[in-house]
Amino acid sequence: MNDFTYYSPTKFVFGRGVTDAVGSEVAALGLTRVLLVYGQGSVERTGTLDRVRTSLSAAGVAYVEAGGVRPNPEVTWVRAAIAQARKVAVDGVLAVGGGSAIDAAKAVAFGTPADHDVWDFFAHGARIESCLPVASVLTLPAAGSEGSGSCVISCDAEERKLGVSSDVFRPKLAIMDPELTFTLPPYQTAAGVTDMIAHVCERYFSGVGAVPLTDQIAASIIRSLIDAAPRVMADPQDYDARATIMWAGTLAHNDLAGCGRSLSPTVRAGGWESHALEHELSAHHPQITHGAGLAVILPAWMRHVWKADPQRFLLFARDVFGIEPACDLEPADEAIADAVNCAIDELQGFFQSLGMPASLGDFDLGEADIEPLVTTLAQNKGERFGHFMPLTMDDCRAIYRSAL
Ligand code: NZQ
Ligand code: ZN
Repeated sequence: MNDFTYYSPTKFVFGRGVTDAVGSEVAALGLTRVLLVYGQGSVERTGTLDRVRTSLSAAGVAYVEAGGVRPNPEVTWVRAAIAQARKVAVDGVLAVGGGSAIDAAKAVAFGTPADHDVWDFFAHGARIESCLPVASVLTLPAAGSEGSGSCVISCDAEERKLGVSSDVFRPKLAIMDPELTFTLPPYQTAAGVTDMIAHVCERYFSGVGAVPLTDQIAASIIRSLIDAAPRVMADPQDYDARATIMWAGTLAHNDLAGCGRSLSPTVRAGGWESHALEHELSAHHPQITHGAGLAVILPAWMRHVWKADPQRFLLFARDVFGIEPACDLEPADEAIADAVNCAIDELQGFFQSLGMPASLGDFDLGEADIEPLVTTLAQNKGERFGHFMPLTMDDCRAIYRSAL
């Protein structure tokens, strides 16, 4: 187990009806006027926004609304919201929504006190020094942003989607009411589950050897999702399954599943290769849902790299899917390859069983779309990146091609 720093300062308030406690919980943070950030209409339609407004007012917390965050949030929206936050002098930012609303809220929270453009934090290495407190009412378990020290924003003009990491903007509060997720379309539910599994896998395949406690936590999160996801597909109002998925999304990405698995105690575990490959997809094609992109990319990445450490993949096969190599029936090399490929097939088959795409062709992408992805990937990550098996741009090109 390598040295690590685990910092998860978020207060998670979880359960039926907790949405109505958001006002008192925000007031308890000492906030008096918040920017209320939300997406493109779902929280209006479901009545969640009205409940939040009522709860804030009852607790004496003033709010100014900034709606309209799109999926794969864009920096132009963030800039406008920062101007609004400065004008009305909010002392905190409250997101109501999924990862896009929360990430937009985070960017506003650290962009507001800054004396330069917010995109400088993402593209030009500016250091995040200060930040307004961030809170959220989660409506879509997926990105794990409610407990993460990550924020991902797109810039359409540059066809780039970039993330920043810092503990400065880790949310202070997450209101997690599984009933709010009853209204999720199956596709978003499935994309969310896929994203969570990818968050666990990025840490599991971090290039560090076995860390049994953390590895079992990781396998347990994935197994719980594989159990719960079909249940909510069959019955969208299955509370326990919805609750399992919601909490799994947080644990998948608040770094619990990476303790002892990072190369240095000050950095997050994992090389985040699949995420880097996927972020190019949703940067160039903002209509692609992040989790759906991962459903294609993660298995393709696994097939490309598993030979760098077959034993790690065998552990994954055993602990997640109960697959063991049949060494008594086949030569050892073939038995290992069969077991690993079988586990990757199982994983990809699970994503597809939820309605996730199987190939880049399902997004109407073809050979001609690959080179632009590789060009901006090199710009964003350098000519070689990753931990499990450092990827050259030729590797990345091959992974994209294999996913066509
Ligand atoms: O915009 P509205 O109308 O609210 O609709 C949203 C949106 O269309 C809808 N939705 C949300 N809650 C709903 C609902 N519809 C019905 N009922 C509900 N309860 O779902 C759609 C997708 O929402 P979005 O917030 O975009 O999804 P998600 O939570 O998957 O977030 C994706 C973003 O997070 C980033 C992704 O790259 C992407 O930009 N990520 C952020 C991370 C982080 N900050 O730690 C890590 C992740 O790896 C990821 O990169
Ligand atoms: Zn993700």
